[in-house]
Amino acid sequence: MFKILKKEDLSEQITLFDIEAGDIARKAKPGNFFILRTHEQGERIPLTIADFDADRGTITTVFQKVGKTTHHMGTLNKGDFITDVIGPLGNHSHIENFGRVICVGGGVGIAPVYPIAKALKETGNTVTSIIGARTKSILFWEEKMRNVSDDLIITTDDGSSGAKAVVTVPLEDILRNDKVDLVIAIGPAIMMKFVCKTTEKYRVKTIVSLNSIMIDGTGMCGGCRVEIGGETKYTCVDGPEFNGHEVDFDLLMNRLQAYIPEENIAMNQTEEKVEVKYNEINKRRKKSKAQSADEGAASPCAG
Ligand code: FAD
Ligand code: FES
Ligand code: MG
Repeated sequence: MFKILKKEDLSEQITLFDIEAGDIARKAKPGNFFILRTHEQGERIPLTIADFDADRGTITTVFQKVGKTTHHMGTLNKGDFITDVIGPLGNHSHIENFGRVICVGGGVGIAPVYPIAKALKETGNTVTSIIGARTKSILFWEEKMRNVSDDLIITTDDGSSGAKAVVTVPLEDILRNDKVDLVIAIGPAIMMKFVCKTTEKYRVKTIVSLNSIMIDGTGMCGGCRVEIGGETKYTCVDGPEFNGHEVDFDLLMNRLQAYIPEENIAMNQTEEKVEVKYNEINKRRKKSKAQSADEGAASPCAG
């Protein structure tokens, strides 16, 4: 059992926990993640280690309430316990003095970019950070990011804080005018895709941290598979960081949406009703598979 030592709502949808997890805190490095299960019947979900304190034996996580498990986490309080926490998982970020680095964090992606920006700054890089969100009320950690950056640029879609723009606008301004050695981008898949499209034009190496659906987190289930440079890789053991210019983002985005009907049901229904709905969905899937097999057999191109 892992105790929640601190809870802070960073915005209406985004919450921070400090969790007592000494063994993980002592081994964690920027870029690692962990998997938790809130209770015995709970699903396993991966979250990034947004900060860690080896002396206090704590890890910090920042999560966005998007579905059943993260909403359930939002109901937990300081002093409550999380049943299982395993980690640190994944490869840690490669930190060295690259020179001029731009760290881009979008939405809840600001949290995982923070420890990387901090480590890069401590290693002597010149760090420009660009953080963006839809609107001011869901932006967080401006001061924390400022403290680990030489420059901080803020963007919001509606202009309620910083520039009214998406993160790629200031990014392209910098790339057009200055020499940049590395870009690191963490956020929604669509944001990372467009960051990579932008940096590709200027041939600047770009690292992204992928958020594919995970189950075991140890390379055994295949759930987190992604395509990198035409090869299958597993985000949990080969990543989560990859060369962004090699990522098949469209495949990633498709796979992220694979269970939306089930996730919606889980969010809206009681456990018992979920079971009934799952059976319905499985029946529908079997029926449509059988139909497409029939159609395939009837087609002149079949086989
Ligand atoms: P659901 O309604 O079940 O799912 C909402 C969406 O989240 C889904 O459509 C799917 O795209 C994604 N998702 C669902 N289940 C999983 C799963 N088992 N694994 C991965 N994605 C899933 N989110 C944060 O808010 N903060 C973080 O620091 C963070 N770090 C992550 C690090 C990694 C390496 C990965 C892979 C994901 C990370 N995520 C993070 C995403 C987080 O795991 C999902 O938002 C969470 O699992 C959603 O669960 P849910 O039950 O609340 O929502
Ligand atoms: Fe199972 Fe990566 S989560 S292989
Ligand atoms: Mg879920």
